[in-house]
Amino acid sequence: MVKTRKIDKALFKGFSKLTREERFERLVALGALTPADIHHLQQTTNPELTALAENFVENVIGCFPLPLGVATNFCIDNHDYVIPMAVEETSIIAAASRTARWVHEKGYISTEIAGDTIIGQIQIAKVKNFSAFKAIIEVHQQALIQAANKEVIPNLVARGGGVERISVRNLLRNDGAVMAVVHVMLNPCDAMGANVITQVCEFLRGPIQALTGETVTMCILSNLTDTKITRAKVVLHNIDPAQGEAIMEASLFAEMDPYRAATHNKGILNGIDPVLIATGNDWRAVEAGIHAYAARSGQYKAVSSWRMQGSDLIGHFAAPVSVGTVGGVTCLHPTAQLSLRILNVSSANELSRVIAAVGLVQNLGALRALTSEGIVKGHMKLHINNLVLATDATQEEKIIIKKQLEDYLSLNAKITLSDATTLLAKLRAEQVAS
Ligand code: MEV
Repeated sequence: MVKTRKIDKALFKGFSKLTREERFERLVALGALTPADIHHLQQTTNPELTALAENFVENVIGCFPLPLGVATNFCIDNHDYVIPMAVEETSIIAAASRTARWVHEKGYISTEIAGDTIIGQIQIAKVKNFSAFKAIIEVHQQALIQAANKEVIPNLVARGGGVERISVRNLLRNDGAVMAVVHVMLNPCDAMGANVITQVCEFLRGPIQALTGETVTMCILSNLTDTKITRAKVVLHNIDPAQGEAIMEASLFAEMDPYRAATHNKGILNGIDPVLIATGNDWRAVEAGIHAYAARSGQYKAVSSWRMQGSDLIGHFAAPVSVGTVGGVTCLHPTAQLSLRILNVSSANELSRVIAAVGLVQNLGALRALTSEGIVKGHMKLHINNLVLATDATQEEKIIIKKQLEDYLSLNAKITLSDATTLLAKLRAEQVAS
């Protein structure tokens, strides 16, 4: 059926300027919110949080709380960490902690970062003379770098960062014309650097146009930060050969098949995203970078691999994980600050390495489960609470249903919401009969 609702546009006139209560009124008038919804939104936030949210985004009506937990047992580069994770998916934190314990008992995790710059792009959609353009930029490269460093980011330069290199690429268009792209490589120190690199590129627009006579069409950072790759390695000694071989086969599957690689990488992101969210980092940016890196050969591939070497199982992760510990939401959100304190990292690079390690360990946990009992059993065991919550069972009924669902799961190895509602109906029928 085609949906054709038309909303009276007057209801949204000046919406962003309204108070939250006035927004509620408009949304109630529209039928989008009920008084019960408003009560819920008011319960899940407080005036301080609302004020903060108003600073971050527009048209705020509330906040969306996610569970914040800590994963335990992580020893990375010989240093113990407590890992804050903000995530709703059942079993992620449990699996991360369990797998980290296994790694700690059987081996170690090491990490490193190769490269220190992020990338900004300046597009010249239709360059008149690419070779001349490239030559001019190359001749003036140092002058452009110095101008940007002096005029736009002197404080970053004082902290050891700044623009380091400029390069020029050409892209052949379908219409026969040539597109030129200037890449600006900048060391953002402990910031993620999205705003700073885009400001630098915007600043360079004028000088580049003046020097070359070409027209700059847009400036923005690239999330494919292949100039700064975070690596993590997990080594497990003396592993059961059959288990190690099975994990290696699972890895080969993801390295060869994009359908499997997507899910394999999703399992890695199950570890990465919750730490990004907890620390106020831009998880969309990191996701975009990791997926683009996974597809850099032209085929989407796994960003981790697992191999047996003798009796050791060795896993590697490599991808851009561009994060910050200063600037933006990281500093403004009290929960992000608290999470950074829990992690106790002293630089953005350290945070990036820890995040990569969590992703690789999460990946190992998933592959271990998938190649043994499967993920359904462990996942559903934890998911039973959600199923019980989704029924209208009373507090007493919940206790009985939960136990029955656990028994049902161990007998049938599967469980759904309809099993929960059927068991509840049966329980109620029995109570009426007795
Ligand atoms: C589920 O959230 C993640 C997994 O599908 C990852 C994987 O298949 O490797 C279990």
